[in-house]
Amino acid sequence: MNKSVQKKSPVICIDGPSASGKGEISRRVAEKLGYRYLDSGMLYRILALEVDRRAFDLGDRAALLNLVMSLEIEFGGSGKLADAVKLNGEDVSFDIRTDKISKFASKIAVIPSVRKALLNRQIAFRVPPGLVADGRDMGTVVFPDAELKIFLTATSVARAERRYKQLIGKGINVKVEEILRELIERDERDKNRTLSPLLVPKKSIVIDSTTLSVEQVVAQVMDLVTNKRKEDNGGAL
Ligand code: DC
Repeated sequence: MNKSVQKKSPVICIDGPSASGKGEISRRVAEKLGYRYLDSGMLYRILALEVDRRAFDLGDRAALLNLVMSLEIEFGGSGKLADAVKLNGEDVSFDIRTDKISKFASKIAVIPSVRKALLNRQIAFRVPPGLVADGRDMGTVVFPDAELKIFLTATSVARAERRYKQLIGKGINVKVEEILRELIERDERDKNRTLSPLLVPKKSIVIDSTTLSVEQVVAQVMDLVTNKRKEDNGGAL
């Protein structure tokens, strides 16, 4: 078989803590490159929603795998619909982002069989011409051979303020102190779990977005992509 046929599609991983802006940045970079976009947190949220709704027994591994494989997920698209997601034909965009499901997703994400069950669904997103994947373990576990790994972070206060503005903008009444407390709690859980904890992948480039705009971060990532392409001399990216 020809070498270029065997070569896997390129992947750019953007990992980082909650509300670091990974989603927005990844989506814009994917759009610019014409790549597919994977919001892996959304898969954890969808599974959390299903498990919660069905009062599913997470101890039954075979059934869990079946459940994960049977979920029919459709993404909204671009613009205002970029955040939209359908599960088995139903719009669950709002339901997967409630406080309850956010917390529950972070809780089920510590269970090894849950992570294992979701692994292949994430890998399946790697299709030509390429993928931008955002999450906590994209560069460490799911796509360890990615061409470019970025760890996007910001101070917890900056992240809490961003999330606060987002929610207020959507008409959801919240307190910034509460958001900060929950964010720190979630960070701790994501960082301290034994399997696939949130950590800076080896050979990744750290971007601290505390004082940067979305446009500035996107520009930095696109520069990194361009440099990487030059380095690889017309390589995969
Ligand atoms: O990125 P997010 O906030 O939508 O993710 C929701 C939860 O899913 C998060 O608390 C941890 C978990 N998660 C994970 O464990 N691994 C990923 N790659 C993505 C998300």
